[in-house]
Amino acid sequence: MSNRRTFLKQACGATCGLIASVLLGDLVKAAPVPGKKPYKAEMDEQNRVNIPLEALEEEVLTIRVKDLEYDVLLYRKTVEAGVEYKAVYLRCTHFDNGLKVTPGGLVCSMHGSRFDFEGNVTESPAQRPLLQFPVTANTETNFITIQIQNHEQ
Ligand code: FES
Repeated sequence: MSNRRTFLKQACGATCGLIASVLLGDLVKAAPVPGKKPYKAEMDEQNRVNIPLEALEEEVLTIRVKDLEYDVLLYRKTVEAGVEYKAVYLRCTHFDNGLKVTPGGLVCSMHGSRFDFEGNVTESPAQRPLLQFPVTANTETNFITIQIQNHEQ
């Protein structure tokens, strides 16, 4: 009886562990960038959003802009000449769905499209890259300015 109980305990433990690791594996892949809540910002009269450089502590920053339907992702890319900034609109180009930011890129929960942090499609069904906004970095004021445009198309 004791052997049977031990066997059942071990078998259940191994099976539950396997199921948990598969489920957790998926959750970890889809998890948002750790420790980051969306940065809240507003547009000025010229549809510009100003972000202090210090807000971009990591490679990516999700920005929740008042009056915009979807969030904006600010991405800092290291290039040979230094640093480049990209801002992409987190609206899937397949059927207009908000994208989730994960450590590996941007994911659409509707039909599974994936994009890199620069907005390029890495997995269909989406065919078009994400909308990008022009970005300027002012090293004197230490602010990054994102020019919001064409987001209603
Ligand atoms: S709406 Fe994003 S993949 Fe279809």
